[in-house]
Amino acid sequence: LGVFTYDPAFFSTSSCTSQITFIDGDAGLLYYRGYPIEQLADKSDFLEVCYLLLKGELPNKAQKDEFKSVITRHTMVHDQLARFYNGFRRDAHPMAVMVGVVGALSAFYHDSLDVNNPQNREISAHRLLAKVPTIAAMAYKYNIGETFMHPRNKFSYVENFMYMMFATPAEEYVPNPVLVRALERIFILHADHEQNASTSTVRLAGSSGANPFACIASGIAALWGPAHGGANEAALKMLEEIGDVSRVADYVQGVKDKKYKLMGFGHRVYKNMDPRASVMRQTCYEVLKELNLENDKLFQLAMELEKTALNDSYFIERKLYPNVDFYSGIVLRAIGIPTNMFTVIFAVARTIGWVSQWNEMVGDAEQKIGRPRQLYRGATRRDFVPLAKR
Ligand code: CMC
Repeated sequence: LGVFTYDPAFFSTSSCTSQITFIDGDAGLLYYRGYPIEQLADKSDFLEVCYLLLKGELPNKAQKDEFKSVITRHTMVHDQLARFYNGFRRDAHPMAVMVGVVGALSAFYHDSLDVNNPQNREISAHRLLAKVPTIAAMAYKYNIGETFMHPRNKFSYVENFMYMMFATPAEEYVPNPVLVRALERIFILHADHEQNASTSTVRLAGSSGANPFACIASGIAALWGPAHGGANEAALKMLEEIGDVSRVADYVQGVKDKKYKLMGFGHRVYKNMDPRASVMRQTCYEVLKELNLENDKLFQLAMELEKTALNDSYFIERKLYPNVDFYSGIVLRAIGIPTNMFTVIFAVARTIGWVSQWNEMVGDAEQKIGRPRQLYRGATRRDFVPLAKR
């Protein structure tokens, strides 16, 4: 291929330099700006992690309060945007709604088109962080035919999202702190993951100078697939399909016979336990305990499936371990989030990662448009044949 390297699926290509997220897949390590994910999941909160990813350092008290106040100011969406929803079928997949409505934000904020101005980039980042949960909750409410709930600024970021999802005008909403903490953890664990498929999509779209709303919409589209963000939905469906612990061995045999994949298992980078999966398993246990669901059938099944796979040579040889999405579906389901919203939750959480990576790239003066090459395997030169002679 001359001077070019053929690297399909980018197994060995670094597409950029970055100072945001570090992964050591062999050791099972994940750090945001140098901080281990386990410490952030345990001691921090989502908005603080957002500040860290976007700006590079943890905020002090004044910076944290100011950031919360700025984000809170942007949580409402334009009334005109709310009318978009009527154009979708009620039974549209919420991810389809997300791709459309988030992209449409660029029609409302014309300053976002000038991406070379750092102040414009900052306000776009704040708008995205603030509005994506509102847009996501509206997609859910539209889907089930309930009234949209306006954001309530007295709540934390995660509480507010739960409020917009679950509250109705008829009753006062009181968030359960254990469930809020669990969702906060899910958000923190999914916030960034260096150059995965959706983030690389955002960077590639952004490398042309496209506005951030369009770029994030492209990231949402890439996230949707079952090999990426759709895995949490697929993993829960798989557990439901298996249905009973007694069927685990048969199901695993089907995986080994290559009939299907074990969803929530395996990772391009982790060839060891995904550190997010350990936190998720513990969170899963805490949530089920809080809800008196310790004997939850799907949780028991998931643990049995994990044990069986981890002791099987097929998985050992290929270094296949549970990833973050093996347990997250059970937690989301226990919180009351329907399966078709799982990937939307991932998109809400990942928005800050996409925005931070996009901002880092656009802010780099040496950045050029992304333009992979190809290995051409088509026909050699030939002359056009008129229709009558074909
Ligand atoms: N179940 C069964 N076999 C698997 C699985 C799996 N989940 N994942 C990989 N393999 C096998 C694969 O068939 C191949 O076997 P062989 O060498 O015999 O051909 C070997 O392991 C290497 O797999 P690969 O397809 O080359 O690995 P990849 O890096 O291209 O794929 C992956 C990574 C995550 C797409 C894949 O592991 C997968 O599809 N997992 C299930 C979906 C999933 O859980 N995705 C969520 C990833 S974490 C959340 C996120 O960041 O999006």
